[in-house]
This record gives sequence, C-alpha cells and structure tokens, in this order.
Amino acid sequence: MLVGGKGTRLRPLTLSAPKPLLPTAGVPFLAHQLTRAAECGITHVVLATSYRAEMFTEAFGTGEDFGLSIDYVHESEPLGTGGGIRNAAALLRGGPDDPIVVLNGDVLTGHDLPAQVDLHRKKDAAVTLHLVPVEDPSRYGCVPTDSSGRVTAFLEKTPNPVTNQINAGCYVFRRSVIDTIPAGQVVSVERETFPGLIASGAVVMGYAEAAYWLDVGTPEAFVRGSCDVVLGALHSPALGGTPGVCLVLGDARVAPDAQLSGGTTVGYGAVIQAGAIVSGSVVFDGASIGAGAVVRDSIIGRDATIVGGALLDGVVIGDGAYVGPGNELTRGLRLWPGARLEDTSVRFSSDA
Ligand code: GTP
Repeated sequence: MLVGGKGTRLRPLTLSAPKPLLPTAGVPFLAHQLTRAAECGITHVVLATSYRAEMFTEAFGTGEDFGLSIDYVHESEPLGTGGGIRNAAALLRGGPDDPIVVLNGDVLTGHDLPAQVDLHRKKDAAVTLHLVPVEDPSRYGCVPTDSSGRVTAFLEKTPNPVTNQINAGCYVFRRSVIDTIPAGQVVSVERETFPGLIASGAVVMGYAEAAYWLDVGTPEAFVRGSCDVVLGALHSPALGGTPGVCLVLGDARVAPDAQLSGGTTVGYGAVIQAGAIVSGSVVFDGASIGAGAVVRDSIIGRDATIVGGALLDGVVIGDGAYVGPGNELTRGLRLWPGARLEDTSVRFSSDA
C-alpha cells in the first residue's frame, strides 16, 4: 500500500498526521483498507511510507489486530508511486509470477478485489488496473480499453479525456514486473511505468467495475467518505458498529437536543452543546461545538473550539483553532492549527 504522500490538498489536517491516518468514521483511514484487504483474503501487507513514517508503525504495529502481517519500508526522500512500489519489492513474498495487489492509501473502494485478481491471472497480465467511470475524468488518469478490456493508453490528467473511465488506484502487478522498475529513483507509475508497459506491448488489463469508489484526497471528498462509511453507503468492516445517521465515539458528550445527521462522526472526548446542529461532518477528538452553532459538511480538527452561534459550511478547521461567536465561515475556507477568529463581524468565504 502506498502511503508516503504529503497529502498537500488536505492541509492543514495533514500537517500533524499523514492522510491515511486521519480519523475516518472513527478509525484511521487506512484501517478501512486493511480490514477490507483481510476480508478479501490478503494476509501480508507492506506499507510504503515516507512522510511521517513513524506514525504508521505506532498506529498498526505488526498488523495482528487486523489479522494481517504488516511490514514497513521507508523512503527518506519520496520516490513517487513507482519508486515506492519498487522500494517495497524486497519485502514482498511469493514467486516471480505471483500477483501483488498495490493500493493507493487514499482510496475507499467497494469493488470486488478477488475478481480483479482472477481477471489478472486469467489473462496472464503484466498489470491489471481497477477502472471506474466518473463524471469529470479530466482530474484523473484516463484509461481507454479495447473490446477485450486491454488497456490501450494511459493519459494522466488530460484536459480532453477520451473516455470517462479512470485509474482507480488499485493495481495487480505480476511480481516480476515490479522488479523492472528502476530502484532508488523517483518514478511515477502513472506517467512512466504504465505508459512504458503499454508501449512495449505488455498485457495491461483494465478491470472495470462501478462499485462504490472515492479518492479522499480533498477535504470535500474526505468528509464525504467518512460520512458514507457511517451511513453505510460503503460497507467497511472497520466501522465499529452498525451504520446510522451519526457515529458518537466513546466518551464524547452530545447534548440531548443537539442534532447530528448526514453521517457525522463525533470523536473521543468531543463535546456538542445544546441546540447545535452538525450535519455531514467529521468532528475530531477533543473538539467542542458550542450551543446553537451550525456546522455543515466540515472537518473540525482535534481540540478545536467552535463557540455557540457560529456557522460553518464546507470548511476545514485546523487542530486547536478557535472560532468565536457569530462568525460565518463558508465553502472552502481553511483555518490553520491554533488560529483564533474572535471577531463576531467577520464573514469568510473562499467564493467571495
Ligand atoms: P496530494 O499532495 O494532496 O496530491 O496527496 P498525496 O501526496 O497523497 O499524493 P497522491 O494523492 O497523488 O498520492 C496517491 C497515493 O500515493 C497516496 O496514497 C500517497 O500516499 C501515495 N504516494 C504519493 N507519493 C508517494 C511517494 O513518493 N512514496 C510513497 N511511498 N507513496 C506515495
């Protein structure tokens, strides 16, 4: 699993923790992938780390809580997606023809991974990519296939996509193909390895399946993903309980007349006071939302304080930040960790 990215689009949340460790429906994001991998029969995982590598070992240890054996490799300088996969090669188990599943560490997916591996074996492919249809393919790697499902091109983030079928960030590699990626260098699988394999005539297959899929790389997508897991739109074995309109963790305190909805998670030790309305949001551990505050589609960082009467819609509040009474913060605003917004007359909007 590739987990070495800096997660710049999710700043400031990723200043204190890497994207795959951000709390998502009550657990670190990657726990959803690890439990699904175990459910699909995977027994050994190598985490290809770089940014804040030590935090992964602390979070997942040997992997036994997941019924997995987890090994860690580290890139002191990020080697990109291809370099990261190559760096993990020494710890991979199995023979040269065995299938190796590679997963981006920021994807929520409900697709049938064993079926993807079956297709890979049946076609004796070099690589088999999971492909999903999306409305706006220009933001992703666009992957056309022929009538047999064979990939004919790999067009990374192109302005005029030829198909709405995109790279979903889950690959099955023939083990020996990983060894052909140059070692110790920055390599992108999307820009170099896949186009190179296609040009050389290697069999690169597309496994197209339109099951639930989400790349949680942006704040909007991250909050959507967490809410979808809580609501049950994506079944995740890592969700502690049954799906519902909200998830309140452990010692969090929610006033009886506060309203939680839309798959909101309230973290450990967080407080939601009387009359507050919180919908479609993720409230991290220790944060507090004051009486009568309204929070929609937002991420409230660890130990942040939202005072009663504030209105937040589609924003990211960094760890320990403070939003005073009467502030209105809307679409796209990001407040950095520890920042204080006292002034009740301020209205912030990135759209303004
Ligand atoms: P942004 O900076 O917001 O684009 O996020 P990111 O750094 O995570 O990059 P991106 O979303 O393109 O990365 C896709 C996946 O590859 C994520 O799971 C990353 O953790 C992982 N990844 C990206 N670059 C590297 C790298 O250099 N090394 C390793 N090991 N993983 C990487």
